[in-house]
Amino acid sequence: MIYRVGNTSSAKATPLPQGFLSKLKSASSVYTFRDFILLPGRSEAEPKDIDLSSMLTKNIRLKVPLISSPMDTVTEWRMALEMARLGGAGAIHRNMSTEDQVAQVKKTKAAKEDVVSSDSKGRPLVGASVSPLDPERCRALDRVADFLIADVAHFHNSKIIMAAKKLLPNLSSEFIAGSVGTRKAVFDIVDELPRVDGFRAGIGSGSICITSEVTRVGAPTLFAVAEVASGVSERRLRLPVIADGGIRGPGDAALAIAAGASTAMLGSMLAGTDESPSKVVLREGKKFKIHRGMASAAARKVRFALDRYSVPAKGLDEGVEAYVPYVGRAEDVVKRMDNGLRAAFGYAGARGVADMWKVASFGLMSPIGAGELGAHSLELKR
Ligand code: XMP
Repeated sequence: MIYRVGNTSSAKATPLPQGFLSKLKSASSVYTFRDFILLPGRSEAEPKDIDLSSMLTKNIRLKVPLISSPMDTVTEWRMALEMARLGGAGAIHRNMSTEDQVAQVKKTKAAKEDVVSSDSKGRPLVGASVSPLDPERCRALDRVADFLIADVAHFHNSKIIMAAKKLLPNLSSEFIAGSVGTRKAVFDIVDELPRVDGFRAGIGSGSICITSEVTRVGAPTLFAVAEVASGVSERRLRLPVIADGGIRGPGDAALAIAAGASTAMLGSMLAGTDESPSKVVLREGKKFKIHRGMASAAARKVRFALDRYSVPAKGLDEGVEAYVPYVGRAEDVVKRMDNGLRAAFGYAGARGVADMWKVASFGLMSPIGAGELGAHSLELKR
């Protein structure tokens, strides 16, 4: 049978290019957190003397290298304020109207609390997530926030880069580009944008993400960080990288920093705290809070952040909605991260973040060996 569609004179099959087999054979190894451990190094500092301060953007330094994720189950004014109080930072999510997001930033700024992370007037430092495809929102938030963080699933996209190029000359806040996951993305972004003040790295690794499962495309956070940091250093830029997605504890954050990140973004780790926006729910006598992907069906219903994803993805769930255990105060989570990071830095022999970039060496775990890292061969007392 012969199928004819339209003008048959041009209906010829495209010749296949060569090299499919070698593409498979030369595939990159795409490692994730659980594949690695840090090897111990000669310790020069006690954990309490380790300096965890680090750059969030080109000009913003944090005492604690943690930022809460701009998700509607993680960061509104209470979380942003608490993160600033503890020496980290928060970025207000954008799954709400521009007016509401501006009000959230203003409310954070107006708080009279003593904070470790502050602006030049001593007010709490706060960021806001934006999409370059929504210039009005960008301009409105630029007037009130200290930094803007792009909140699109794939910043390495011509339409997004063109929109950011137009927008940036009119913005004065620090601007973080993301999400990205490759060196090539860094090169294209720095070549085409008038400025950028940092990168957000990691595609598809978040606890609630199903992008990579659905599309089979992704740049797992540890790999993305190493790629982006390599691109930044190859161009001899001083641009910090945020490790975003899949961080479950201080060890993951330490690995991310060792791979070139300056800070770590936390979603699920903070979603279960008092300061996250959702309410505590009881399930079989246990307390939980809700955490959901910004591309989950529930978050997409609110509609404001739909342009985070590509057009076909707007009809496609790329995230799930889930319960996370209620864990009390964000302060306790941040303190645990701080202590754990200090311990990791101590074992690895690093005095601070820039030192970690230099001295860290990685050990690659075998899948069988990975099982030996936690408690094993015994029955835990509950
Ligand atoms: P964690 O693991 O910290 O990850 O909860 C939070 C990060 O996940 C990203 N994010 C998504 N990725 N589909 C995705 O593929 C989604 O629906 C989604 N929502 C959030 C985002 O980078 C966040 O910081």
